[in-house]
Amino acid sequence: MTSIEITRGDITGQDVDAIVNAANNSLLGGGGVDGAIHRAGGPDILDECRRLRATEFPDGLPTGSAAATTAGRLAARMVIHTVGPVWSEREDRSGLLASAYRESLRVALDRGAASIAFPAISAGVYGWPMDDAARIAITTIRDELACIPTGSIELVRFVLFSEQARSAFASAADAAPAS
Ligand code: APR
Repeated sequence: MTSIEITRGDITGQDVDAIVNAANNSLLGGGGVDGAIHRAGGPDILDECRRLRATEFPDGLPTGSAAATTAGRLAARMVIHTVGPVWSEREDRSGLLASAYRESLRVALDRGAASIAFPAISAGVYGWPMDDAARIAITTIRDELACIPTGSIELVRFVLFSEQARSAFASAADAAPAS
């Protein structure tokens, strides 16, 4: 049975196999989680991001996709970069946000990660309302975990940067039916 944890903290300090980065399509760094991971992890992460741009993703990492690199100096074994959608009043982009979580989990599984830490993807610079971001995150991960072989992922940890975000994720977990 996979443990799902919801905690307030800094994702760069998490001692898990995979840390998920809320990147942008360029894969070349930015602010928020992206900036924190590159600052704490060091230049090796950006070097590998550049290699991904030169090979697999010449046009950038598509929104909703995920790709792994070294974690550099971080305690984790890998960073899984994903790109969440920018919030839109006019257009429902929920599927792309769900895909960012789903694809990150898939890449973690493909690489044998037993534990993974997620930030609140799209809920910062990209403006997604936190409650809805939490609902999508929790329901997507719960649905995916119900479909994978038991024991392949031991721990999924949502690491939130504020009490408000942590509370939103805790409420979403209470509200979502257990899979
Ligand atoms: N640890 C955990 N969570 C963090 C950290 C951190 N060190 N730093 C920020 N956060 C939180 C934010 O408070 C927000 O709730 O992560 C959530 C996601 O915020 P962003 O990092 O802004 O990510 P996102 O909204 O997906 O926007 C992505 O922002 O930083 C740029 O390069 C990034 O262009 C990309 C865009």
